[in-house]
Amino acid sequence: MASEKLNVPEHVTIIMDGNGRWAKQRGQERLYGHKEGVESVRACTELAVEKGIKYLSVFAFSEENWDRPVEEIEGLMQLMLKAISMETPTFQKNGVRFRVIGDFSRLSQKLRDEIADCMKLTEHNTNLQLIIFLSYSGKWDIMQAANKFIADNASKMKDGEVPQMSAQDLAANLSTSGIPDPDLLIRTSGEQRISNYMLWQTAYTEYYFTEVLWPDFRKTEFQQALDAYSRRERRFGKV
Ligand code: IPE
Ligand code: IPE
Ligand code: MG
Repeated sequence: MASEKLNVPEHVTIIMDGNGRWAKQRGQERLYGHKEGVESVRACTELAVEKGIKYLSVFAFSEENWDRPVEEIEGLMQLMLKAISMETPTFQKNGVRFRVIGDFSRLSQKLRDEIADCMKLTEHNTNLQLIIFLSYSGKWDIMQAANKFIADNASKMKDGEVPQMSAQDLAANLSTSGIPDPDLLIRTSGEQRISNYMLWQTAYTEYYFTEVLWPDFRKTEFQQALDAYSRRERRFGKV
């Protein structure tokens, strides 16, 4: 049975973990693992386009990752810069819309410019949205959404009134506004935690954990996760 044809998720998100351990196993610096991890992003993007997945998002750098050694952070940001400029022609060829979500205030101007250029260039592509979560955390996102809502509404209140925020109001102010919540969340490297990723948006997401380290997670491994997803029964609290 062509099970991969069944239940293709609209939005798959991946916590790409295990690059450092992958490098260490080979007696290399952590950055070597991050570099190889870029190849996994490329492979998964290709498969996502082939399978008709509309949104592929990846957690590339968390707010907490700013506490890593400065050399690793700089290496990762350089890698990001290089990967974006190298991949842009492929995005155009494959109809991939590229987006980055996160707290841009901590990124270098050069990286911000590169991101803005690639986002602008690819904004009308419709096959797949590839969304990179960079300098992102779930708590940050919820807090900035709440603050944005208050800033937009406080001045509209009459004396003594307090703005009331609905779930729709909060979702509309999240940095992921307009993007459907993930159907499937994959985490590699055997860790089974959310690590302050999309907290609000994953309320009903299916989780898939694998021992495979991110640099080894390629099309075959991604297909296995999609097959597992297609066998899940989602109930959303109903009977
Ligand atoms: C994931 O791999 C990439 C980032 C968090 C930037 P790690 O760098 O966390 O690798 P491990 O978990 O130490 O093996
Ligand atoms: C989560 O991985 C963040 C990203 C993949 C970007 P970490 O390696 O930072 O998470 P913890 O520290 O193991 O929870
Ligand atoms: Mg890790």
